[in-house]
Order: sequence, then structure tokens, then C-alpha cells
Amino acid sequence: MNWPEKRICVTGGAGFLGTHLIEDLRARGATNIFIPKIEEYDLVDPAAIKQMLADSNPDVIIHLAAHVGGIGANREHPAEFFYDNLMMGVQLMHQAYLRGVEKFVAIGTVCAYPKFTPVPFKEDDLWIGYPEETNAPYGLAKKMLLVQSQAYREQYGFNSIFLLPVNLYGPGDNFDPRSSHVIPALIRKCIEAQESGTGQIVVWGDGTPTPEFSFAKDAARGIGLATGK
Ligand SMILES: NC(=O)c1ccc[n+]([C@@H]2O[C@H](COP(=O)([O-])OP(=O)(O)OC[C@H]3O[C@@H](n4cnc5c(N)ncnc54)[C@H](OP(=O)(O)O)[C@@H]3O)[C@@H](O)[C@H]2O)c1
Repeated sequence: MNWPEKRICVTGGAGFLGTHLIEDLRARGATNIFIPKIEEYDLVDPAAIKQMLADSNPDVIIHLAAHVGGIGANREHPAEFFYDNLMMGVQLMHQAYLRGVEKFVAIGTVCAYPKFTPVPFKEDDLWIGYPEETNAPYGLAKKMLLVQSQAYREQYGFNSIFLLPVNLYGPGDNFDPRSSHVIPALIRKCIEAQESGTGQIVVWGDGTPTPEFSFAKDAARGIGLATGK
């Protein structure tokens, strides 16, 4: 990809992964990067999507924006996680196709994998079962972007790809106990236990799960590489 010549729109570009991705894209030579903020464009709203595309006129869209959170947030708001992520992604990709966007990069999630996927995860196992119930509304909403990508490529020749990062950690992570993922949640619990002198922390689960983690800057580099191919 000739990065300096491309108008690139990165939804969710101000978020945790987005901040690392913007750094990676700039290092590749991208100069024209548009980052829509939720205050100006709530991308669940179809009118806001159209306005955002008219304002940015992108050649390439990297769709990172998502309603995300850890186990607690997914348990409390399953309907919002499903609706917001499905509507945002499906409508944005459709409008991108209608506008003739050159490349659409959809970011999925490891939560799309079935609950009992053998470890280490393989892409061949993506459809062998239903996801872990807590994350299913979020994981399946994002998984539909894979189905949409394949369908639009087949019928319209639309250049859309779907990338599936595993659990991320790194600088700029979310440490809010109501919505954080496991690594920042554990770091916070340890620091608070040390500061308060309790000498112990409560960890959810039974200790048997084996999650896969990736450093956020590495995931950003992978997205940059796949976008530029
Ligand atoms: N973090 C992980 O471990 C992980 C793992 C696998 C995949 N992913 C995927 O990576 C992407 C980025 O995740 P992240 O961890 O960086 O999350 P994040 O920090 O919460 O970033 C998400 C971004 O999306 C924006 N957004 C949310 N709803 C929106 C809406 N309705 N309209 C416009 N923008 C909206 C947020 O804006 P505000 O901040 O203003 O709300 C935020 O900038 C997501 O697609 C997620 O599914 C993340």
C-alpha cells in the first residue's frame, strides 16, 4: 500500500488498541488519518455513519470501534454488547461497500471462538460450537463481520478482511474494575492489596482456564501489516 497517498479512517482510533495502531500506521508513512470520535459520530446510528464517511471520504477503513468490556460488563449489558457491535459493524461495512471504499479491515475478537475450542486455538475451529455464554452476544455480533466480509467479497468483489486479536494488554489499558479485562484487573487488585495491606486478592474463576494474550503494540503491528498487504 502506498500509505502517504491513502485517506485512512480508523474508527475507535482514540481507544486502547487504536492509539497503538495510529502510531504503527504513522510509522508506515500514513499521514491522512481520520479518527471519528463517538461524541461527533455515534456509529450505531446509520445517519452518523453516512455523515462520517462523507466527511472523511476514506480509501481504507479500519474498524476498531466497539462497545467492549470484561466479564462483569458483558454479564450486565449483554443486549447492548450485541446490538451496538452488530449494528455498528454491519452498517459501516455496507456503507463502505456502497461508497466504493478500496479496503475494509474488520477487527474481530477471540470471544468469537467456541467455548470448548482446543488450545492452542486454530482458525479451523472457529465454527465448531457456541462461544462462552458470558461473551457470546459480543463475540457473535463481531463474528458476523466475518460472514459479511466473505459474502460481500463473493458477491460484490468487495475487499474486506477480518482479523481476530486475542486478549490484549499493554500501555494505555483500561483499569476500571467495572469494565477492565483480566490483566489490568489483576494488576489493579495486586496493587490495591499491597497498598491496603490485606495480603490477598480474590480472583474470579477456578484457575483452570488458559487464555492467550498478546501485547497491544504487536497486535497493532499485525493490523498494520494486514492492512497494507
Ligand atoms: N482489548 C482487547 O483485549 C481486545 C481483544 C480482541 C479484540 N479487541 C477489539 O479491538 C477493538 C478495540 O478495542 P479496545 O480494547 O481498544 O477498546 P476501547 O479502548 O474501548 O476502544 C474502543 C473505541 O471504540 C469507540 N466506540 C465505542 N462505541 C462507539 C460508537 N457507538 N461510535 C463510535 N465510536 C465508538 C470508543 O470510543 P469512546 O472511548 O469514546 O467510548 C473507543 O475509542 C475492538 O473492536 C475490540 O473488539 C480488543
